[in-house]
Amino acid sequence: MMYQKALKTLLVFAAFPALSSAQEAATHPTYAKEVSRIIQENCQNCHQPGSIGPMSFMSYEEVRPWAPLIQMRVANREMPPYHYDNDVGIQHLQNDWRLSQEEIDTIVDWVNAGSPLGNPEELPEPKMYPAVDEWRLAAEFGQPDHTIKSEAWDVPANGQDLWWKPIVDSGIDESRCIKAVETRPSAAAIGSTHHANSHFKVLNEKGEWVDGDRLSEFAIGKLGEKVPEGACRKVPANSKVEWEIHYFPDGNAVPNDQVTIGIWYHDEEDGFVEEESYPQDLRAYFLSASTDDYMIAPHGKLMTQGFRSFDHPVRIDSWQPHMHLRGVAMSLEVFYPETGRTEVLSQASNWTSAWNHSHTYEEGYQPLIPAGATLIMTAWYDNTADNPMNPDPDQWVGSGQRTTDEMSHAWIAVSHLDDEAYEALLTERKERDNSSVASLDGGAQ
Ligand code: HEC
Repeated sequence: MMYQKALKTLLVFAAFPALSSAQEAATHPTYAKEVSRIIQENCQNCHQPGSIGPMSFMSYEEVRPWAPLIQMRVANREMPPYHYDNDVGIQHLQNDWRLSQEEIDTIVDWVNAGSPLGNPEELPEPKMYPAVDEWRLAAEFGQPDHTIKSEAWDVPANGQDLWWKPIVDSGIDESRCIKAVETRPSAAAIGSTHHANSHFKVLNEKGEWVDGDRLSEFAIGKLGEKVPEGACRKVPANSKVEWEIHYFPDGNAVPNDQVTIGIWYHDEEDGFVEEESYPQDLRAYFLSASTDDYMIAPHGKLMTQGFRSFDHPVRIDSWQPHMHLRGVAMSLEVFYPETGRTEVLSQASNWTSAWNHSHTYEEGYQPLIPAGATLIMTAWYDNTADNPMNPDPDQWVGSGQRTTDEMSHAWIAVSHLDDEAYEALLTERKERDNSSVASLDGGAQ
């Protein structure tokens, strides 16, 4: 890749051996030619009227006044908001919002050159976006096959954290494999709906309603979940859905608010691996005390760890850190007892509770965990005044449900494998890696 890039640059220079100063100016990126395309692809989704970004970036006139701030936020990798380390752990992620280094450099160079418009004829066609009250996944999958709504609830304009936990009929009359699921707050309450978790309730043999599998999880900044290819997440027929919606009033009263879940089914359901999602398996333990027994001192910092292993091989399909305002970083590692080696799978060192992502590994790059290996989740908290999210560094902070309490868990989706499937996946990857090494060698000759 690097080799190819270098070659391209070389060709460009070869074509213009003697640069006049006008040509030199033309080598700076312009809005019309390069920057507009980066903004269109990576920013407008949120930075348009009615969406969650505080300003609109739909035209040069709208973007230009923000150029220096854009440069800073992009160079610091704070925008687009996707907090996942660049140089540590698995880098093959689906729906990865991070800009490439080349795109970042383009924006930085453009701002340094005075943010020129360039030739307006080179501007791309405007991009069409779904309205805020449309499904994000609709572009890929169309309208959902099934929707489930929470019971209506009046969100007040002001006040403390609120929880709304209605139980509704799922309306699902057939147990099928989910392809994707998205939880969508209403457009009016998009700023106050902090989390919306849901799980199934199913009838047990005694005829009692008991908790079933997790259905979906939403937190601010999250757009939907796709079940990995070839995996089946079954929904139970004749079930109910219990919601746990966490509102944090943002100044706008929203009467009769409802959150909606959209479900897309697979048409064809044969040959899938059963997928299960473990919402809170990697709960952190502090000094081996009970799960929630940790306190962060005023102006203090803390690290907690949680562990989990399986007696059979598993494939981890996604990882989503979850902490609150004092949470600043999290990592997921695996310890192999046979070799004594520990490997970082994923890490977010500049994590912030303002954004929540389910980092879904690309097909073929999901970590394969052998039986008996231990997953290690480490969470770091900063209760000092240096943490910009910290509302009050003078407080002791313990674990709890309120936004101002802490949490430390990761949501990981796990596919359970038998030994044969595990070996087959390992072999597939070995072959792929060998053949890509071979083709790299071939290319360099
Ligand atoms: C997923 C939605 C989303 C995407 C994608 C996104 N932004 Fe933002 N952006 C926001 C929100 C929300 C804020 C306000 C909160 C914050 O500052 O984090 C913001 C704030 C900003 C700010 C203002 C920061 C300040 O200090 O006032 C800039 C500049 C910015 N974004 C630039 C960009 C650029 C450039 C891109 C694309 C390369 C981008 N954003 C992509 C949602 C987004």
